[in-house]
Amino acid sequence: MKRVLITGVAGMIGSHLADELLNRGYAVTGIDNLNVGTRKNIASSLKNSSFKFIKCDITDPASLKKAASKTEIIVHMAASKKIGESGDALKTLKINCEGTRNVFDCAKAIGAKVVFASTSDVYGSSGDIPFREDGRLVIGSPTAKRWAYAVSKIYGEQLAFACYKEDNVPIVVLRYFGAFSSRSSFTWSGGHIPVFIDAVLNDREIVIHGDGKQTRSMAYVDDVVNGTVLALESRKAVGEIFNIGNDEEVSVIDTARLIQRVCGKKKIKIRFVPQSKVFGDYEEIKRRVPDLSKAKLFLGYAPKVSFEEGLRLVIKTHKHRT
Ligand SMILES: NC(=O)c1ccc[n+]([C@@H]2O[C@H](COP(=O)([O-])OP(=O)(O)OC[C@H]3O[C@@H](n4cnc5c(N)ncnc54)[C@H](O)[C@@H]3O)[C@@H](O)[C@H]2O)c1
Repeated sequence: MKRVLITGVAGMIGSHLADELLNRGYAVTGIDNLNVGTRKNIASSLKNSSFKFIKCDITDPASLKKAASKTEIIVHMAASKKIGESGDALKTLKINCEGTRNVFDCAKAIGAKVVFASTSDVYGSSGDIPFREDGRLVIGSPTAKRWAYAVSKIYGEQLAFACYKEDNVPIVVLRYFGAFSSRSSFTWSGGHIPVFIDAVLNDREIVIHGDGKQTRSMAYVDDVVNGTVLALESRKAVGEIFNIGNDEEVSVIDTARLIQRVCGKKKIKIRFVPQSKVFGDYEEIKRRVPDLSKAKLFLGYAPKVSFEEGLRLVIKTHKHRT
């Protein structure tokens, strides 16, 4: 039985991945500092005797190494995802750079393969739509409050490749393009979809940052988990970067309308707030669409859950909670 270590296991994607790997017969060690993630997210895994949870912070190399013993594969999900909010850049850089460095050092020491969770944010404000893995990464003005997260993930990717080429650590880099599930945080850190769903179900106004014309390509978590498992199990994937997600491009305003329809509400109130009021000096990414052809060619990956179907699944679960 292969043992996989998932960092950030109590978070949204990590917890679903743990469920799936346990279903497939893997032994899973999950670590998390529980700053964002919750024990509730891993409640089903905790009942499985092949699952071990250790409360651990990836910025503490000794605890990380202890938790990772006897692991063959590390899926590195733990990260601070804060973008744009004031005061969070230092934390983001520390966790995503120092923590990721510790994870790769640990992998080298124990001879483990690393699947690194990167992000579509690394493409920055590139206009080369759809984004291809070999495309340009365009980081904007240093005064704009949005790049700490993207830069920290670019650093993680570069570290992954340096470890692969210089230290023979087998690595795979996955650039996730936005994912959602009923375990997403229903605050802004979970992205716009959960916040909109919660607002619509509770008859509150939807707040849209900017004019709502910015587009995103959001995947239901099952597709992201499936792409991760394919990459984790594939020999061909080693030393490669893959876009993973759903390539349906939907604007933020159309997302709000779709949620309204799926929730069965006749009317919703939308308030548009200028980005500058929320974030100050900020740069919005206007379009975000993945080219999934490389993931299809190497991994046989294709998203299976449509955006609307994913929304239906989350709305159904969230309705019962509220
Ligand atoms: N969800 C998305 O839309 C999305 C999109 C692109 C990339 N990603 C990447 O995928 C990964 C997982 O995302 P997610 O949505 O599940 O995020 P999440 O915030 O739900 O989960 C991250 C987990 O990491 C834990 N964590 C944070 N700092 C830690 C530390 N120092 N030590 C140990 N644990 C720590 C948190 O408590 C949380 O449980 C992240 O690396 C993220 O950058 C996610």
